[in-house]
Amino acid sequence: MKIGVTVYSYREFDEAKWFHEFSREYGIELNVCEQAPCAENVLNAEGSLCIDILTSPMDRDLLERFYQCGVRYITTRTIGYDHIDIQAAKELGITVANAPYGANGVADYTLMLMLMSIRKMKCIMQRNIVQDYTLRGLQGRELADMTVGVIGTGRIGQAVIQHLSGFGCRIVAYDLYPNETVKQYASYVDLDTVWQESDLITFHAPLMDTNYHMLNQQTIGRLKEGVVLINTARGGLIDTQSLIEGIESGKIGAVGLDVIEEEFSLYYYDRKSDILQNRELGLLQSYPNVTISHHMAFYTDNYSKTVIRDSLQGCVYYAQGVDNPWVVA
Ligand code: NAI
Repeated sequence: MKIGVTVYSYREFDEAKWFHEFSREYGIELNVCEQAPCAENVLNAEGSLCIDILTSPMDRDLLERFYQCGVRYITTRTIGYDHIDIQAAKELGITVANAPYGANGVADYTLMLMLMSIRKMKCIMQRNIVQDYTLRGLQGRELADMTVGVIGTGRIGQAVIQHLSGFGCRIVAYDLYPNETVKQYASYVDLDTVWQESDLITFHAPLMDTNYHMLNQQTIGRLKEGVVLINTARGGLIDTQSLIEGIESGKIGAVGLDVIEEEFSLYYYDRKSDILQNRELGLLQSYPNVTISHHMAFYTDNYSKTVIRDSLQGCVYYAQGVDNPWVVA
């Protein structure tokens, strides 16, 4: 019998090819829905043992609805799984899996945001477009002169550190579980030392209850004057209101954000004719020293194939009751 998988947030333009190829190969009965999962479209998954989602929130209520519908396995086509209420899933008996892919895409993008931020690329491009070729205010900084702090040295943090090692900067790192490869390129220090000694800080830890708003008014107070902050991990690691205050006071010199709090209802939708309910995003966009992208760091040609293959393969393993390397809870 074929294994039923309903794919939410399905994209025809880049995902269809891989979903069809791998579902044929694995004997999967594929059912697709372009919308993110919500109370109104839970019934689309009727008859499916598994659902395959993106970064939209899966709270207890929604999980209960899917459970009642017969869903027992959720795979997210992402590395992070903080959008899923893991405790509720465990209590209901729903298995949750993610789909990690190569770390280089996010690491490359992080380096790009670092360089754009320290070289004031947003301002340079804005001036260039209006044929303002002046130099005043555009002087940048060089990575080789900086101490870079890396928070989280898992797959992506480690790749960032390896990329950075070619730039000649001092690298300090913080992780709950230091790793030997990283020690070749960086010194592990405590978190307070990262806050106090870094000219640039980049975030690569998963978002959890224990590190929610790890950068807040109090920790911003410990940072160096003019510090540069890069976040390609999760918006909830940074308290956005305190970030804004830090930028406006001049304490924070530049910011590169691929992720932001409350991005879920905005990112990946065309909202250009809408009045957005996210004042913080509007404010941040207006600052010349803040570069923002809409959660794109993962999006390379390597990503789609790997993620779709592994998320569907995980559904098959679950249905067959065999070991599944992608299960997170
Ligand atoms: P990983 O699981 O390989 O590494 C995470 C590391 O963070 C681990 O070494 C872990 O020990 C460490 N860690 C956990 N809690 C910490 C804390 N409180 N302080 C410091 N370190 C802590 O994960 P990977 O693949 O490196 O991804 C990291 C995060 O990047 C993901 O959780 C996800 O949120 C984000 N991400 C963002 C993408 C984007 O497109 N912007 C794409 C992929 C991932």
